[in-house]
Amino acid sequence: MAEPERESFPNAARAFPAREGASGSDRLAGRPVVVAFACTYCAYTAADLAGAMRLSYPAEVRIVQVPCTGKIDICLLLDAFEHGADAVFVAGCNLGDCHFREGNVHAKKEVARCRRLLREVGLEPERLEFFHVPASAASLFADCAREMTKRACSLGPNPLRATPAGDLGKKLALPEDLPPAIPPQDLGKLKTDRANQQKGA
Ligand code: FES
Repeated sequence: MAEPERESFPNAARAFPAREGASGSDRLAGRPVVVAFACTYCAYTAADLAGAMRLSYPAEVRIVQVPCTGKIDICLLLDAFEHGADAVFVAGCNLGDCHFREGNVHAKKEVARCRRLLREVGLEPERLEFFHVPASAASLFADCAREMTKRACSLGPNPLRATPAGDLGKKLALPEDLPPAIPPQDLGKLKTDRANQQKGA
């Protein structure tokens, strides 16, 4: 599987396909585009670790490194959708672990606000999610990436994306070897936590 593309803040705009010109759009035709805003102290490190551990996750995920998820605001999230992302997720430190005290709390509120706005403009709020991903949780990052790719595929192309007329309304191609979706109650939990809970149940 190809190495996922990575972008550094503030070059986030380069992660968005519509700004790549016609050749970029052609290359992405029929495939989902997922943008991940990853905190440099946790999720971005986890993504790096996932690469080092050779854990695979869809190459469709474009990672944008941010100094803290507190840097995320609703305009940045809407910008991603406006420029063609089929799904977007924000991955930040666990509650209480943010290096800037409450950046992740702020980001969660922005994500919730943006989800309400997406619903109002007719886009599915499930296209946007927030995850807590500690630096050591490489497999959790890979899970989140797969989950959002799967959602993008089942929801279909973002109607704002420059899609050829003949492809409108068609499903996006699901990358191979995607595991089952994470149940909603397990979103944001470490894999080990989930395994322990299942054992205890
Ligand atoms: Fe990671 Fe704030 S430093 S979310």
